[in-house]
Parts: sequence; C-alpha cells; structure tokens
Amino acid sequence: MVERYHSNQASPLAPAANGHPRSDEESMYDKEAKRRKRAKWAMYIAIFAVFQVIVILVFVLVVMRLHRPKFRVGPLQIQSLTAGAQSFDMSFIAPVRIKNTNFGPYKYDATNVTFSYGGVALGQVTIPKSKANFKSTKKVDLPVTLNSNALAGTALNTSLSSELSSGSLILSSSGKMEGKVELMLIFKKKKSTDMNCTMTIVVSTQTVQSLTCK
Ligand SMILES: *[C@@H]1O[C@H](CO)[C@@H](O)[C@H](O)[C@H]1NC(C)=O
Ligand SMILES: *[C@@H]1O[C@H](CO)[C@@H](O)[C@H](O)[C@H]1NC(C)=O
Ligand SMILES: *[C@@H]1O[C@H](CO)[C@@H](O)[C@H](O)[C@H]1NC(C)=O
Repeated sequence: MVERYHSNQASPLAPAANGHPRSDEESMYDKEAKRRKRAKWAMYIAIFAVFQVIVILVFVLVVMRLHRPKFRVGPLQIQSLTAGAQSFDMSFIAPVRIKNTNFGPYKYDATNVTFSYGGVALGQVTIPKSKANFKSTKKVDLPVTLNSNALAGTALNTSLSSELSSGSLILSSSGKMEGKVELMLIFKKKKSTDMNCTMTIVVSTQTVQSLTCK
C-alpha cells in the first residue's frame, strides 16, 4: 500500500529527472500565479478608481454645488400702530433672515429692503454689509417706521380706506441682495437673492395674521 502510494506519487515526478517538463510545469504555475496577482491588482485599481469617482461626484454634487441663499422677513414685531380712516402710522422690528445652505459663507453687500403698500414704497431700511456663515441663517433685526403719507392723493387711498375699515392692512417687503458664495476658501461665485414677502396685519390686535414669501 505504502509502496503503491509512493509509486503513484513518483510517476508524475518521474519526468523531472530530465529537467524540462518539471520546469515547464513550474513556469506554468508561476505564470498562473502572476496572472492571478495581476488580476488582483487590476481589481484593486478598478475599485480605487470607482471609489475616486464617487468621492469626486459627491464633492462636485454636494460640496461644490451652489444654492441660492433665501432672503426673507419674519413676522413683524409691531411696537405701535395707529390707523385713521385712510391713514396709518406704525413702527416695528422687522426680523430679516438670510439662510445660507452652501458649504461656505455667503458674503453680501449692503442691501435695501423696501416696505410698500399696493406697489408704492412707504419706507426703506438698509441691511449692513455682512455675511451668513456656511450652513446657517443670519438674523438681522431692523427697526422700521412707516406711514401712509405717500398714498395720499393716489388711487390707492380707496383700497387703503376699505382695508382699514375691515380692520386689516396688507404690506409687502422686497429687496435684492447681491453677494458671493465662497467655497473651499478660494472659489467665489456671485449669487443674488430676492425678497418678496406679503403680510396681513390685524390693526386692532397689532399682530401679523399671515405672511408669505416667494
Ligand atoms: C439704498 O438706498 C439708498 C437711499 O435711497 C441709496 O442711496 C443706495 O444706493 C441704495 N442701495 C442699494 C444697494 O440699492
Ligand atoms: C383719494 O384721493 C383722491 C385725490 O386726492 C380724492 O379725490 C379721493 O376722494 C380720495 N378717496 C378717498 C376714498 O378718500
Ligand atoms: C413679487 O411677487 C409679485 C407676485 O408674484 C410680482 O408681481 C413682483 O414682481 C415680485 N417682486 C419682486 C421684487 O420680485
């Protein structure tokens, strides 16, 4: 049994005696190992390349993507409001919000916000030049005083008096903000954003009933 085993084992090795077949076999074995090694490396490189492409895509689509900052006014904090039959006088704090969802700061220029009635400007305030940090909302509370003097003698006095007699007042705020989004400290891209908000104020309670921004 043992002998047979030996002889069985011996027979494939037998040609080795003359050298040639054995080294052929060995080099075939080496070639196969090398081929496998190369295939393995090719696979690693391919995986790495795919990984790189994913990293670059995420970078371009998420980090480098520019979003327009949102520029709006929140509900006014009314400090005083006196209304006549077709006139009013008021002062309030306008909470302006600049929401920046970019992966970098939004540096904006000084910006005017106009409060108007029926398209006629009644008053204007200026937001000082500043910045909204990356992924954050800049809050600027602006004191504003308005009156209806600009409406006297215009066709709007009719709608104003009918609005006031029903106890409400509809104002709008608008403005255009110019600025730059800075990405990775080096890339700068101009981005402007508009404010266009409409609010309904209840005169008797001096509160903002509704507020919509576009
Ligand atoms: C803001 O308004 C003031 C006064 O009307 C004007 O001088 C200034 O140029 C305006 N600023 C911008 C950025 O429009
Ligand atoms: C609106 O103003 C015009 C011009 O001053 C005036 O003739 C008219 O009577 C006013 N309307 C109301 C409702 O007060
Ligand atoms: C604000 O929205 C109104 C209604 O869509 C539009 O007529 C007006 O032009 C807008 N104003 C600004 C400054 O975008």
